[in-house]
Amino acid sequence: MSKKVYQYNLKELSSVASDILSSLKDERIWTFTGDLGSGKTTFIKEIVALLGSKDLVSSPTYTIANQYIYPQGKVYHIDAYRIDNDEEAFNAGIEEMIYSGDYVFIEWPEKIIDLIPQEAVKIVITSHDNNRILELHTY
Ligand SMILES: Nc1ncnc2c1ncn2[C@@H]1O[C@H](COP(=O)(O)OP(=O)(O)OP(=O)(O)O)[C@@H](O)[C@H]1O
Ligand SMILES: [Mg+2]
Repeated sequence: MSKKVYQYNLKELSSVASDILSSLKDERIWTFTGDLGSGKTTFIKEIVALLGSKDLVSSPTYTIANQYIYPQGKVYHIDAYRIDNDEEAFNAGIEEMIYSGDYVFIEWPEKIIDLIPQEAVKIVITSHDNNRILELHTY
């Protein structure tokens, strides 16, 4: 496992997201761990924009997952916060998304930990006033 650490404020978000996207070119499943309001959705929004999507990224509030289109394909954005068991995850179609080969960005992966492939990228974000510290763990 290798680990890289980034620190950024909102102004620096775009350049950090761009570095991370280019360093993870072959990775499709990214998990995002961090407290409520730590900046998971904000970071995903930036990545989706960098992929060239014009779709609006928002927290999947009424559904478990959102789907966005970008020029080369699809992105699934899963927020597993409200998933309580494997049956709910299955009914939400999480497994199909994970094995689709499309990008899959997962907030609250700990809620569906049995479904996360071991090789998934792990991103951990912590909040420090107007900065965020992001740890990127890859194999
Ligand atoms: N690098 C940053 N510097 C300063 N503020 C940031 C940074 N990244 C995100 N924020 C702010 O922190 C808040 C994070 O909200 P966001 O919805 O991204 O959190 P989240 O981790 O997805 O939370 P939840 O678990 O509720 O889904 C937003 O108000 C955003 O503007
Ligand atoms: Mg969120």
